[in-house]
Amino acid sequence: LLARWIAAKLAQPIQQMSTLMTRYADGERQLRYEGKRSDEIESVGQAFNYLSNKLEKAELEREQAEAAVRQSERLAAIGQMAAGIGHEINNPLMNIQSLAKLIKQYSSSDDVQLSKDLHTMQAEVKRCAHIVQGILNFAKETDVDNKDFNLISLLSETVALYAHQARQQKVAFEQQGLESFVLYGDRSQLQQVFVNIISNALQASKPGSIIKVLTHAEHEQWVVVEILDEGVGVLPEHLSQLFNPFFSTKPEGQGTGLGLSVSYGIVQNHRGEVIVRNRDPHGVRVIVRLPVDHRELTKYPLADTSTVDGDNSDIT
Ligand SMILES: Nc1ncnc2c1ncn2[C@@H]1O[C@H](COP(=O)(O)OP(=O)(O)OP(=O)(O)O)[C@@H](O)[C@H]1O
Ligand SMILES: [Mg+2]
Repeated sequence: LLARWIAAKLAQPIQQMSTLMTRYADGERQLRYEGKRSDEIESVGQAFNYLSNKLEKAELEREQAEAAVRQSERLAAIGQMAAGIGHEINNPLMNIQSLAKLIKQYSSSDDVQLSKDLHTMQAEVKRCAHIVQGILNFAKETDVDNKDFNLISLLSETVALYAHQARQQKVAFEQQGLESFVLYGDRSQLQQVFVNIISNALQASKPGSIIKVLTHAEHEQWVVVEILDEGVGVLPEHLSQLFNPFFSTKPEGQGTGLGLSVSYGIVQNHRGEVIVRNRDPHGVRVIVRLPVDHRELTKYPLADTSTVDGDNSDIT
């Protein structure tokens, strides 16, 4: 009788563990062992928890990697399409431009309304040409020009480009962190990245606010640049779309929605990552992480995302 009692006592927790594992395997991924014992069952339970936490993390990383691949495929496809459309539109646009000029020359100068309309027409054509140029720049396959350069000087230079605009907007810049940092990469492409991020920050900033540009090194493997503003922030439902080409919340004529997608591509080509997060209580933190050395890569294909973390829509 005693033996049976002991056997049942032993079998019960093992039975419970096996039910737990079966339910987990069948998809109840939130299940964990929650018993409190001091025997072997406890260590099996803890091992189960360890295993399921590991699995959950791996799953998350796989999802992020897939998201990065989808993003870069989308970018490549849209880039090709955009280049095609850009070329097609450019020619008729130039024809309209020349015709407007001709009509202006041949029409009598006392027709005030006509010359006013022609003027508007030319201005509108110019606006289209500007957008088309942006699209062509986006799709352009530029040659990579990698060399050693001082990242901190590049940042100061880029901030200086916006000093005038910031003063007018009564926004202050603060640059903190590393004094100097030599990075290997394409200086002018990376400048394009910081130009895009800083101009977004300025566009979002209110008078009296501060934009911080912070730098630090991480485990001697990464150099991290963070651009923090105190502006309006991003609506949670927009966070996952920021890197999509042509995604813009700005009024017509003020944003083509290419800044962040272009930046994403450039940073990806440097084997780095860009993350955009909302700040508490308001504003945006853009994090650019670049690997300190990737000298072995002389030419990097855009579609190869093998080392890139897909966390491009980080939500906090
Ligand atoms: N610092 C920021 N604060 C608030 N919103 C931002 C910030 N940076 C980006 N965004 C949001 O992300 C969108 C996409 O940015 P992106 O730079 O790609 O395009 P854009 O600024 O709208 O146009 P473009 O850069 O082509 O002139 C913006 O329209 C804006 O809604
Ligand atoms: Mg922008």
